[in-house]
Amino acid sequence: MNDYYLVKKTDKLEGTVQVSGAKNSVLKLMAAAILIPGVTQLSNVPDIADVRLMQQVLESLGVKVSWPEAGTVRIDATTLSSHKAPYELVAHMRASTAVLGPLVARVGLASVALPGGCAIGSRKVDMHIAGLESLGASCRIEHGYIEVEAPEDGLKASDVTLEFPSVGATENLILAAVGAQGTTVVSNVAREPEISDLIDFLITAGVSIEGRGTTKLLIEGAATNKLQGGFTHKVVGDRVEAGTFLAAGALVGGPVTVTGFEAEHLSIVLKKFREAGALTEVLDNGVRIERSGPLKAVSIQTLPFPGFPTDMQAQFMALMSVAQGASVITENVFENRFMFADEIARMGADIRIEGHHALVNGVPELSGAPTVAPDLRGGASLVLAGLVARGETRVAGLQHIDRGYENFEQKLRSLGAQIERVA
Ligand code: EPZ
Repeated sequence: MNDYYLVKKTDKLEGTVQVSGAKNSVLKLMAAAILIPGVTQLSNVPDIADVRLMQQVLESLGVKVSWPEAGTVRIDATTLSSHKAPYELVAHMRASTAVLGPLVARVGLASVALPGGCAIGSRKVDMHIAGLESLGASCRIEHGYIEVEAPEDGLKASDVTLEFPSVGATENLILAAVGAQGTTVVSNVAREPEISDLIDFLITAGVSIEGRGTTKLLIEGAATNKLQGGFTHKVVGDRVEAGTFLAAGALVGGPVTVTGFEAEHLSIVLKKFREAGALTEVLDNGVRIERSGPLKAVSIQTLPFPGFPTDMQAQFMALMSVAQGASVITENVFENRFMFADEIARMGADIRIEGHHALVNGVPELSGAPTVAPDLRGGASLVLAGLVARGETRVAGLQHIDRGYENFEQKLRSLGAQIERVA
């Protein structure tokens, strides 16, 4: 794909934009539907590349997926015809590993290609495997696939503590525990809003889960044939998409109102926008942001929820690159998530990387340049930088942005951004 965004300096960005459902929730909800021998529906589903990929993964397992209307996905997992998620699909999307847990819970077997490394680090699955093994499953890596098998008499409940609150490992463990006999206790789980959304979905399907939103979950195993479909679950609003548009408002000035998400899912990000000089107002269906004074340098460090989200790190770096003063951005979650820094440096940003720290010296103005999106959030952040850079900025590598942002340029243009997609 050779198309690129052409972004011009935009002096005024204002208006209201509504975000779509959360990519990092809907992919796991689609995987969770594998557990239910019936039909479930998801609404507020973003039509993005990753959702289409997950649809293909499910269809490769014999699940029927259709879109009865825009934004709604109907999933019929009454019967499965395979327990193998093929390499050519998984290689493109790490989130495909989310089918491991539900497959081994439902049919006692799962074979999922190892996810390739990706731009932001090696992205191991050791905690996923340790979690499944704690429920009695046997896991082995063969020919690039993770092969998981439940014991003859099924998975057994266990008391597990995650080494690190990994989002993916938490989700796989919850989904596998649904098929384990007894009540599984999982400690040190991730608490991202997308995990709570998954728990809400499972509770609607009839699973008993205690501890939603805390670091300790109790999941009561049930025979998966007892789980009930026949409902529609609305996907939680995408807090990262919301944070991206709010960052644009803080950068250019606003006032910009972003709706369709829960403000408390971005508490610490809003606090940091305020420390940087922006004014934020929480509305009943979103947040309004504007800035008239100077952008001030503010340091952040990324942490699991409710800490500053790693998925907002690049967007905040774009903001700090034109702030007054020096800031330190520390990336604690991924081992290699500063590629965006190299790209924005070509636009005149003054950033020095030292291990997990990026030292940012704000400059008065960036200059437009041809750039390439290194990954999903880095790509979106190059667009943000282009909005305040002198002249024109090109952002290529749009396949990254298309993975997680629905109608990105249309939403930005509705706020007055000078952006167009050039094929
Ligand atoms: C999810 O990835 C999100 N992706 C990521 O969003 C997000 O950045 C991340 O959670 C953290 O919030 C989806 O939900 C599809 P992790 P995930 O397991 O589950 C290491 C975006 O831009 N680790 O919490 O892969 C891992 O390498 C994407 O939307 C192990 O070492 O994240 C990473 O350094 C990017 N072993 C750290 O933990 C494991 O078994 C956090 O990973 C699992 C993870």
